[in-house]
Amino acid sequence: MATTICFLIWVAFITDSVWTRTVRQVYEVHDPEDFNEQDFDCPRECFCPPSFPTALYCENRGLKEIPAIPSRIWYLYLENNLIETIPEKPFENATQLRWINLNKNKITNDGIERGALSQLKKLLFLFLEDNELEEVPSPLPRSLEQLQLARNKVSRIPQGTFSNLENLTLLDLQHNKLLDNAFQRDTFKGLKNLMQLNMAKNALRNMPPRLPANTMQLFLDNNSIEGIPENYFNVIPKVAFLRLNHNKLSDSGLPSSGFDVSSILDLQLSHNRLTKVPRINAHLQHLHLDHNKIRNVNVSVICPATTTLPADQDSFSYGPHLSYLRLDGNEIKPPVPMDLMNCFRLLQTLII
Ligand SMILES: *[C@@H]1O[C@H](CO)[C@@H](O)[C@H](O)[C@H]1NC(C)=O
Ligand SMILES: *[C@@H]1O[C@H](CO)[C@@H](O)[C@H](O)[C@H]1NC(C)=O
Ligand SMILES: *[C@@H]1O[C@H](CO)[C@@H](O)[C@H](O)[C@H]1NC(C)=O
Ligand SMILES: *[C@@H]1O[C@H](CO)[C@@H](O)[C@H](O)[C@H]1NC(C)=O
Repeated sequence: MATTICFLIWVAFITDSVWTRTVRQVYEVHDPEDFNEQDFDCPRECFCPPSFPTALYCENRGLKEIPAIPSRIWYLYLENNLIETIPEKPFENATQLRWINLNKNKITNDGIERGALSQLKKLLFLFLEDNELEEVPSPLPRSLEQLQLARNKVSRIPQGTFSNLENLTLLDLQHNKLLDNAFQRDTFKGLKNLMQLNMAKNALRNMPPRLPANTMQLFLDNNSIEGIPENYFNVIPKVAFLRLNHNKLSDSGLPSSGFDVSSILDLQLSHNRLTKVPRINAHLQHLHLDHNKIRNVNVSVICPATTTLPADQDSFSYGPHLSYLRLDGNEIKPPVPMDLMNCFRLLQTLII
């Protein structure tokens, strides 16, 4: 590639900042005086900080079993042990639990006793990354807000698993073994508040069907997705962050209106098989199209509003809002069209 233009100004990671604002703050201050001496029992395998009586630290200890959890505990840290099972018994008094971190253990579905999780009526965050799960655990507490299941072997989602999880905002299933047949008609039904769905690095060939209407962030990188059905985005009218890097998308696999969806702010289509710039909306801010097979850039597609700006429109509130465009790793022959460089008012980064 002969021409490299790189105006690198600071690029905000919109995704992260939006997300942190939506995560509910669950740390609340507790007065240690609320607990008297005899209440302050601590499993001998663990550490109980006197200044933070609602937390129990049992991580990195080679534990094979979950110790009995005292009733005062809100935050339970059990990551990086050798735990294979989640029985009901150790949690029988732990009715206040908000947060459990069981990442990096050896938990299997057979090891989870049926009521063990669902009895935790106040649980908000459940971390089970890097375990041996083959299906999404079920039943789960209805109060759950975040479910982190990255890097397991999940290929199945039992019927009704999500149907009562009305407060779930984040579901992370990246790096598992999901195929298209993992989804039933009603798999996602009931997830009224789901905002982020991460299914990157699975084995999907199609877009997951019937997503929850409030989905804002949809991450599907590193699958084998070949196409997007016509009108797919109509059911997710709030989608703002769409990542489809490292898939098999071709021009003919896209809906006829491409990605002309006004809610999308950040669109990532790197490492696919596109030969043309797909249609976008003037609201789009970040566009990643590197490592496709694009030969020519039709400037009026990338800057949809510049050619059609109505005389009575305030030119600043109307498009194009694109501030980041990546086109390297394509088959674009220099010179880069001058009007491509002129067409964005807000362009901060252009990588060709
Ligand atoms: C739960 O509390 C009861 C009553 O204090 C106690 O007898 C029992 O051993 C506790 N269970 C666990 C698992 O700690
Ligand atoms: C969902 O969250 C709301 C608001 O925090 C709360 O009132 C409600 O009880 C929660 N639902 C469940 C099933 O926990
Ligand atoms: C996808 O695969 C590429 C190449 O192997 C890797 O660099 C990237 O980190 C992966 N992304 C995700 C989200 O798994
Ligand atoms: C560029 O895109 C516009 C708008 O989609 C279209 O009307 C025009 O025919 C395209 N030009 C070329 C040379 O493909």
